[in-house]
Amino acid sequence: MKSILDYETVALVDEADAIEIIDQTLLPGKIEIIRLCTAKEIWDAIYLLQVRGAPAIGVTAGFGIYLLMKYSKAQSYDEFMEEVKEKSDYLNSSRPTAVNLSWALKRMEECVKKFCSEAGSFDKEAVIARMKAEAEKIKAEDIEVCRKIGEFGLSLIKDGDGILTHCNAGQLATCKYGTATAPMYLAHEKGMKIKVYCDETRPLLQGARLTAFELHSAGIDTTLLCDNMSASLMKSGAINAIFVGCDRVAANGDAANKIGTSVVATVAKRYGIPFYVCAPTSTIDISTPTGGDINIEQRKPEEVTEMWYKERMAPEGVKVYNPAFDVTDNELISGIVTEYGVLHAPYDNAIAELFNHK
Ligand code: MRU
Repeated sequence: MKSILDYETVALVDEADAIEIIDQTLLPGKIEIIRLCTAKEIWDAIYLLQVRGAPAIGVTAGFGIYLLMKYSKAQSYDEFMEEVKEKSDYLNSSRPTAVNLSWALKRMEECVKKFCSEAGSFDKEAVIARMKAEAEKIKAEDIEVCRKIGEFGLSLIKDGDGILTHCNAGQLATCKYGTATAPMYLAHEKGMKIKVYCDETRPLLQGARLTAFELHSAGIDTTLLCDNMSASLMKSGAINAIFVGCDRVAANGDAANKIGTSVVATVAKRYGIPFYVCAPTSTIDISTPTGGDINIEQRKPEEVTEMWYKERMAPEGVKVYNPAFDVTDNELISGIVTEYGVLHAPYDNAIAELFNHK
């Protein structure tokens, strides 16, 4: 029988002018593949978290802007670029925190500019073919980068380790391996016996619905816990290392990830457990100086009060605090695992050096 890991998180179906995704809001109960064709469908799928996780959002945006420009009626380079900009701005407005969204859209725009300036002319068909190739490259690179993160992350794991993770930075958040889960998949491939503990991740339950689902499907020893249970688990000695993903790393190493991550990092520090942030360089935003400069997405109160319950479980009219992400201060982070290696504090220097040399 097909497992969730046999499905592609995001795929281009060019002949149908569509992006295919797994509708992640239905997991784990139902695996349904849906097609996105219009700008509104792509925007909604990102906003509603049918496709989510920073790298997967970036790949969707790359395919999205290609498809939206495929039948452009622009007559000149200037008209074409104006349309790219307008459509990119629209897609980019779907979610603010994961930098991979704007990163992918900017990369697509830059590739058009470079292609036309090198060609010295505007050949619309050729430009569109170039956009398709670039979007496919973003996806292929994501798989390679996650594998590399897995290899570097593996050096931080020992046979028999208990590993805690928060939210879903797994295959469902990328095109393969995931970021935080890549070391786990590689350890499992090598026959290492690891025990993975997944925080359920309130309010949207990505840990329960997605991470526990994919790791358990892979045959990895997986245990689910409510978010408020992780301190007692850490205190018990069951956890040797923590791996989480990331939506945006600032230039000083502060890292925004799913709400609750900074609680895990703070408790980990208390119990002396190494806390690793796995981040492709596409998630590092050197134009954002610190975590305080990161725009944190606020989401609807209904996600907290009723979304996963048969009936509303909070009093009508009560105020709700529902930020989708929080920032883990760089001093709580033991290492940032990138596709180029593991960065250590001081992160401002390590990140600057990485960007100067990559
Ligand atoms: O709101 P989500 O589900 O998109 O949040 C996802 C996360 O916080 C992930 O940890 C992050 O995007 C990294 S995915 C490799």
